[in-house]
Amino acid sequence: MNSDLVVVGSGFFGLTVAERCARERGMKVLVIDRRPHVGGNAYSADEPTTGIEVHQYGAHLFHTSVDRVWEYANRFTDFTSYQHRVYTTVRGEVYPMPINLGTINQFFRAAYTPDEARALITEQAGELAGTDPQNLNDKGIQLIGRPLYEAFIKGYTAKQWQTDPKDLPASIITRLPVRYTYNNRYFNDTHEGLPVDGYTAWLERMADHPNIEVRLSTDFFDVSQPVNKGAVVGQVPVVYTGPVDRYFDYAEGELGWRTLDFEQEVLDVGDFQGTPVMNYADDDVPYTRIHEFRHFHPERDYPTDRTVVVREYSRFAERGDEPYYPVNTAADREALLRYRERVEAETAERRIVFGGRLGTYKYLDMHMAIGAALSTYDNTLPDVLR
Ligand code: FDA
Repeated sequence: MNSDLVVVGSGFFGLTVAERCARERGMKVLVIDRRPHVGGNAYSADEPTTGIEVHQYGAHLFHTSVDRVWEYANRFTDFTSYQHRVYTTVRGEVYPMPINLGTINQFFRAAYTPDEARALITEQAGELAGTDPQNLNDKGIQLIGRPLYEAFIKGYTAKQWQTDPKDLPASIITRLPVRYTYNNRYFNDTHEGLPVDGYTAWLERMADHPNIEVRLSTDFFDVSQPVNKGAVVGQVPVVYTGPVDRYFDYAEGELGWRTLDFEQEVLDVGDFQGTPVMNYADDDVPYTRIHEFRHFHPERDYPTDRTVVVREYSRFAERGDEPYYPVNTAADREALLRYRERVEAETAERRIVFGGRLGTYKYLDMHMAIGAALSTYDNTLPDVLR
């Protein structure tokens, strides 16, 4: 093998490390991915009949307050001025999210000032004051009061987890943000936008360097491939961004994930819902939300008589499903600690670094994956490459 580094996984974590090592250290980097495309979960593709860009693994909105990450991202793409806003349909009525003064006044048919609204929610949350809620349902009531919790959180959470919130641990939520202003911008970050030419162009530019070779449809655990775990680890430094439990053959147990199912449809209307994301909070609607992808890029010249919508359904992942969100039960956290010990030993003995959302069993936003990769490049890799 004539590579100085093998990177397993071409998501933001893997590509950031690969790009830095190739450009800054002049290393020859081989990136493999088991999927037929680069980009990990941020990958997008144009729906062929409309040309509308669809994020294939769920909607991806870029936002960060970390200047270093923003500057790094801007080397590969310009960003639009898109600002994310979400609405939710509850009992046949549409409200702005996250819960804000507009939501509260609409819901209670009132014109409360910020102080009046705050006093009302404090009073309603007082129903369970002084108790120590053990389940998510009681915790939700204690945080924002029963009326808002039952309308906006209860059914949505039940669908996300396919479990009655009374049977979910309180620890899943620590806070439910309520804003006492009319600000319904979803993110509070300094920088926000969508890549002007789409995610895939951005990700492909990161990999576009003479020292980087990308091999797709190549699974690290497929022993029939020349580049596989047995052939590579210990021989060449490796950055591994696949699932940590899979790497160790599930020796400490399987870590739980939630997955999503997407139902995509092209409709013969120019505009289906007037906004990119509509949540559905009622538990008798089976999906959690509908994305209408044209609205992420109002600046583009998309067809005016057709649109693409994607309904999203949430459920627990089986082995073989795409892992999306860590479930993080107490048993998962214990298993993760045992995996971390194995990871440390493996890094020390065999020059392999684990990273990214799958390699660390952590939900990471894109900017966090990029930031973590830049830190790994600065702090961890020098020892591994020595
Ligand atoms: P990522 O999963 O992207 O890449 C890992 C790669 O490793 C994959 O390409 C996989 O195929 C490959 N791989 C795994 N096992 C392998 C093996 N055995 N052999 C070879 N390759 C293997 N973030 C954000 O900032 N804004 C947002 O709006 C969203 N939205 C969002 C929606 C949904 C539904 C999810 C699940 C996630 C988001 N994210 C997000 C988070 C975003 O997707 C995340 O930050 C990046 O995917 C993290 O990049 P990684 O490189 O860590 O993993």
